[in-house]
Amino acid sequence: MEKRQELYRGKAKTVYATDDPNTLVMHYRDDVSAFDGTKVAQLAQKGETNNRFNAYVMGRLAAAGIRSHFIRVLNERESLVKAMKMLPVECVVRNVVAGSMAKRYGIAEGTTLPEPIFEFFLKSDALHDPLVNDDHIRILGWATAHEIGEMKALTHKVNDVLKPLFAHAGITLVDYKLEFGHPTDDLRGVLVLGDEFTPDGCRLWDAQSGEKMDKDRFRRDLGDVIPKYREVATRIGVPL
Ligand code: TMP
Ligand code: ASP
Repeated sequence: MEKRQELYRGKAKTVYATDDPNTLVMHYRDDVSAFDGTKVAQLAQKGETNNRFNAYVMGRLAAAGIRSHFIRVLNERESLVKAMKMLPVECVVRNVVAGSMAKRYGIAEGTTLPEPIFEFFLKSDALHDPLVNDDHIRILGWATAHEIGEMKALTHKVNDVLKPLFAHAGITLVDYKLEFGHPTDDLRGVLVLGDEFTPDGCRLWDAQSGEKMDKDRFRRDLGDVIPKYREVATRIGVPL
């Protein structure tokens, strides 16, 4: 496998081509971004921490039968992934009320939900990722009814694997965001997770103290962002 030209530079990762059009290199940078790219910084060790964190979680998901684009770690900051045709929506599952849901409905952050709530958002920084429903997605052609069902089932299945994984480490999985798509070498097959799972895209609270251990530390200027990501990693068994 040979790494070739840069294809896409996102807010925290850069994607490179390889000699195989169906395989890409995902490079985790030290950049952190929030509020649709309006707040940015660089945090030492972020890239290597998230690369390893993600690889560990993808391994646990694969062991539970959840397919993702992740293939293998290449080096400290890079992993090999399948090239994907992504659906333009973000899937959020919430176990505890926080963030935009707390604000939207005027419910206190920290309110535990009797069962997980699923939400769809349109992936668009320019529009600030608006909440959308199944009809918007199906009728406006962003995904089929079948894909909508697959996204919901897969996002909930991830919760069934990761909520207990974090709970065993004394950490509450409050909410998380996932994106799905089709591998370019299997465009008609089942939907595959085409996203990372790191503290950048979820909320993790210490179960005892309630301390935030995720990207809210950056959004809310709480400090110690990467030390807390690394503490989560150590507690769940990620080899750092
Ligand atoms: P929210 O409370 O801002 O709607 O976010 C819910 C969860 O999803 C939270 O863990 C952050 C994550 N998320 C992202 O990582 N990126 C996004 O673009 C959105 C909308 C949410
Ligand atoms: N909306 C997410 C956040 O606030 C990601 C982003 O800004 O693009 O962190």
